[in-house]
Amino acid sequence: MSIVITGANGQLGSLIIKQLLQNVQSDSIIACVRDLEKAKPYLAQGIEVRFCEYDQPESLQQAFAGASKLLLISSSNPDDTIRLRQHAHVIEAAKKSKVGHLLYTSFAFLGTGTISPAHLHLATEHAILTSGIPHTFLRNALYTDFVGVLELDKAIATGELGIYPGDWKFNTVTRGDLALGIAAVLSDAGAGLGHNGEHHGHKHKTYELTAPHSWTFYDLVIALSELTGKPITLRQDPQIQNWIYGFLGKIDTSSTSADLESLIGGSVTSLKESLKPFITMKY
Ligand SMILES: NC(=O)c1ccc[n+]([C@@H]2O[C@H](COP(=O)([O-])OP(=O)(O)OC[C@H]3O[C@@H](n4cnc5c(N)ncnc54)[C@H](OP(=O)(O)O)[C@@H]3O)[C@@H](O)[C@H]2O)c1
Repeated sequence: MSIVITGANGQLGSLIIKQLLQNVQSDSIIACVRDLEKAKPYLAQGIEVRFCEYDQPESLQQAFAGASKLLLISSSNPDDTIRLRQHAHVIEAAKKSKVGHLLYTSFAFLGTGTISPAHLHLATEHAILTSGIPHTFLRNALYTDFVGVLELDKAIATGELGIYPGDWKFNTVTRGDLALGIAAVLSDAGAGLGHNGEHHGHKHKTYELTAPHSWTFYDLVIALSELTGKPITLRQDPQIQNWIYGFLGKIDTSSTSADLESLIGGSVTSLKESLKPFITMKY
């Protein structure tokens, strides 16, 4: 069995491989990267490294040769038209390489989103369906990292978190939890067992990898206060200008699912714990 992973030098890809090493032998993992130098630590762990550049279709077919499973981690290119073309290159190469199972890191609750990332992920899912390759859609929620733009340090210093008014709810998750869930799928753990104990596998499934409960900005200030021991209140301010609110308003960040917790067989990281990396000041 060969599990081939694109974007292997990226943040999510690295965490998935780290987790996967707990479940499978290193020689069954193939890390696909566009910077071979950066991937040297994988070689030291017994992981095969292959060159893979989404913009060079000829590199992809070779990179995917012999893959029983291929995880396409969505491209990080900022232009969604380019991303779509890159994903199409990957899907075409996967078909030519006769990949047995194509898994794709999509975006959670796509149906209600109206902005280009939602269209991109839906279009990629459709292209995968069109290819006929057995698939799994791993629809990742918004990373909790978005809190990084909310100026948490300033809120701790001033005792006040300023937010744009609205009935905001978030189903965010950490990359670490996503990596746990995705590694479980890639190593065939966590798949549903039927009443007769038969393994159902993950092919042709769509998982909404969100937290099972959404949180609000009130929950955020409570968590911040608990972490720092300082009272922090919420201030709704229509003057606040931040691109993130335009983005958040156009995606479904409130629907929840139990999929991620069932895959990881436990609870997702708490909001309080997830906030720690985004607080740089001493408190
Ligand atoms: N759910 C969310 O909230 C959220 C937020 C941001 C992004 N995303 C999506 O999730 C993906 C994974 O997240 P992440 O945190 O791991 O992002 P990341 O750290 O930026 O990793 C993206 C990976 O894609 C690789 N890549 C980019 N363009 C490529 C190309 N043309 N050919 C081959 N590989 C290419 C990068 O290669 P290098 O290492 O060589 O740069 C990198 O390894 C992102 O790419 C993005 O599509 C989701």
